[in-house]
Formats: sequence, C-alpha cells, structure tokens
Amino acid sequence: MKAAQDTQKPDLCPGLLDVESIRKDFPLLARKVHGKPLVYFDNGATSQKPQAVIDALKRYYTEENSNIHRGVHYLSELATSLYEEARKKLRRFVNARRLEEIVFVRGTTEAINLVAQSYGRKFLGAGDEIIVSAMEHHSNIVPWQMLCEQVGARLRVIPINHDGELLLDEFRRLLNQRTKFVSLTHVSNALGTVVPVKEVVKLAHAGGVPVLLDGAQAVPHLPVDVQEIDCDFYAFSGHKMFGPTGVGVLYGRAELLDKMPPYQGGGDMISLVTFEKTHYNVLPYKFEAGTPHIAGGIGLGAAVDYLAGLDWDQVAAHERDLLEYATQAITKIDGLRIIGTAQEKAGVISFVLDHVHAHDVGTILDQEGVAVRAGHHCAMPVMQRFGVPATTRASFAFYNTRAEIDVLVGALHRVLKVFG
Ligand code: ALA
Repeated sequence: MKAAQDTQKPDLCPGLLDVESIRKDFPLLARKVHGKPLVYFDNGATSQKPQAVIDALKRYYTEENSNIHRGVHYLSELATSLYEEARKKLRRFVNARRLEEIVFVRGTTEAINLVAQSYGRKFLGAGDEIIVSAMEHHSNIVPWQMLCEQVGARLRVIPINHDGELLLDEFRRLLNQRTKFVSLTHVSNALGTVVPVKEVVKLAHAGGVPVLLDGAQAVPHLPVDVQEIDCDFYAFSGHKMFGPTGVGVLYGRAELLDKMPPYQGGGDMISLVTFEKTHYNVLPYKFEAGTPHIAGGIGLGAAVDYLAGLDWDQVAAHERDLLEYATQAITKIDGLRIIGTAQEKAGVISFVLDHVHAHDVGTILDQEGVAVRAGHHCAMPVMQRFGVPATTRASFAFYNTRAEIDVLVGALHRVLKVFG
C-alpha cells in the first residue's frame, strides 16, 4: 500500500472532495459524545444520514403517509408513486436491466435468506454443494447452513490468505459438477478486502453456477454495476449506504426470480386467492408480502439521490487517502497489528493491540468521543482464521477526515498509557 504523501497537512484531500461542506449535510456529525466532538468510525455497522434522507422520512410521515398499491384515494396513489419512484432510483443505482429485478427487503440478511429458501429449496438437493468464503459475515453463512440441513446439501469454504485475500486457485479447485450455488461477499466487513467479483462470477458461470454477492459493505464505497459484474443476485442494506434502517434491496436476474417460488405469503404477493388455489403476483411483488417499509423505501431513494450528487472519483480518492493515512499512522503504534492487509481494500481497519482486549480499546476510545466497533463483527470464522477472539474496527465513510484519524491515534496512545 502506498504511504500517505503529506502528513503536514492533516485535511489535505487529494481528490478535492469538499468534505467540510459534505459534513454539514450530516447533522449528527456535529454532536458531542462525553463532552468531546464525535469521531464516527463505525460506518461498517451503520452510516449516518444526510439531512435529505431525514427530510424525506419526516415529509412522508407528516404529509404523504398512506398504504401503497391498494388504495384508490389521493394519498395512497401519492405514496405508491413515491415508493415506485424509489425503486426506479435503485434500479439505476445498481444498473439492473429491468425494474422488476429490484425487490425491496428488510436488508441484506433477509435478501440472502430469501434466495436460500426460495431458489435453494427449489433447485438444490442432497449431495449438491454451495460455495462461500472464509471471510463471510454470518448472514452469508447461516442461511446456507440452514438450507444444507433442509435439503442435504453441503457447504464448501474458499480459504483466504494471511492478508485476508480470497484464494482464487482454491476456488477453482472447489468448483465441480456438484457445485450448485456460489455466495460471496463483495467487500469484507471484518477485513475490508475487496473481492475480485468479476473473476469469481466468470469462473462460476463457466460451470453454469449462479452467484449471489453480499454487497452490504460495497455499496457505500464503490459504484456497483450488476450487469458489468454479471452476478445473478446482489444484496444490500439501506442503512449502510446513508439511508434508513429496516430496508434494503435484493437484485435478482429476472429469469431466475421468475422461476423461484415466493418466500413469504400474505398481502401484495398475490393476484388471486381462493381456498382452493392462490395465484401469485408478478415480479417483484411476488417477493414483497405484507405492507413494506414505505417510508424506508422512499428514504432510501433520497439516499440514492444524495449519492448521485457526489463525484465518485473524488470519493474514491478521498477514501483511499483516509485508508492510507490511517494505516500508516496506526501501524506506528507499539504492539498494534492490523488484521486484513489485502492489496484491494475498502476503508476498513481491523486491528488488535497486544495484551488489551478489543472491548477495552473500544471503551477507552469511546471516552475520547471515537466510535468504533469491537468484537467479532458477526464474522466469527474470520476471527478463528486469524487466531484472535475479537478486533477493534475503524470503518470510514467519505465524510471522515485525516484530523479525525489523528484523534483516533491520540486516543490509542491513551489506551497504551492506561494498560502500559
Ligand atoms: N454487519 C455489521 C457490521 O459489520 C453490523 O458491523
């Protein structure tokens, strides 16, 4: 990794992203915690929300609230058109071919469970194999284990190297006639590794195997084009990409979604119900049972609008600068080891400090106003791979600054003093 160039100018932004004005869009960033200015480095867990998203939620509940798809009155039609407008924005956001390929769900976890239970139970059976990697979030392990128990399939795991990179040769070796599904993360939440997903998809498709990508940690950092990646399913959460909690998206190739049975039964996913037989609705509604998170969908559309207003070359340059600056600064700290040193990384730094538990690190950082996550990050197999019980994780967003990283470094020196 290239060293940060100019440590004399703490807020230098090589990509010229106007971070100071961006920060003003996120009201929560201005608050204090324990009397100290907040340094928010827990973006991997959830991002902060721009005023435009907060306004969209407030407007919805004060002026537009009504149920969708079923009312004939003005407000219902208004809410329906706002919700469906948001779906169009999300289609553009990931460049799906068709609108019906965008299914609203509660988040990444629900999206993966939907595919495991719907596609998996229909198309996988005893002896079939599902491939995941050693750096998956539990949400991309457990649904597949549940499916394996239900249908008698087997989970295979692509190992990673000591930098936290996927071993592509091992993936090639694992692919075989019995492989029926591949489900991988795009960006690791615990390590920051960016997986070479286009190559993965190419290899899997050569054997006719569909691929799902967990994009929860990718969409806040990288432009995603599902047609270019050529994946079959792509799952992501709204709250990690500056939108509301409780809403997310499953992109699915229409040809596959068409063949899949509904995941849940109830309102909106039917076209006709009798006691003898129920006819299911068309895509994407077949997968959207019950009243959805209408405000959430509209708020997520506002987040997409906000992101579309940013220059993503500048965002990428700024985030790269933050990662390099932070990596260089914290590796100078005695006894600190970074877990996850892949060549291709998003703005995530997981680390361990000799003789200090991650929770103690997190607690002392919190006293200094620095919010990080400490624990296994819902990726226990990653911790096992690196032989650590937990890590402390600083995860960045485009609104973070070098000056905040300096605060983190100062706070880590305080941790050393307390435990020294
Ligand atoms: N999966 C989220 C994280 O990585 C909660 O923190």
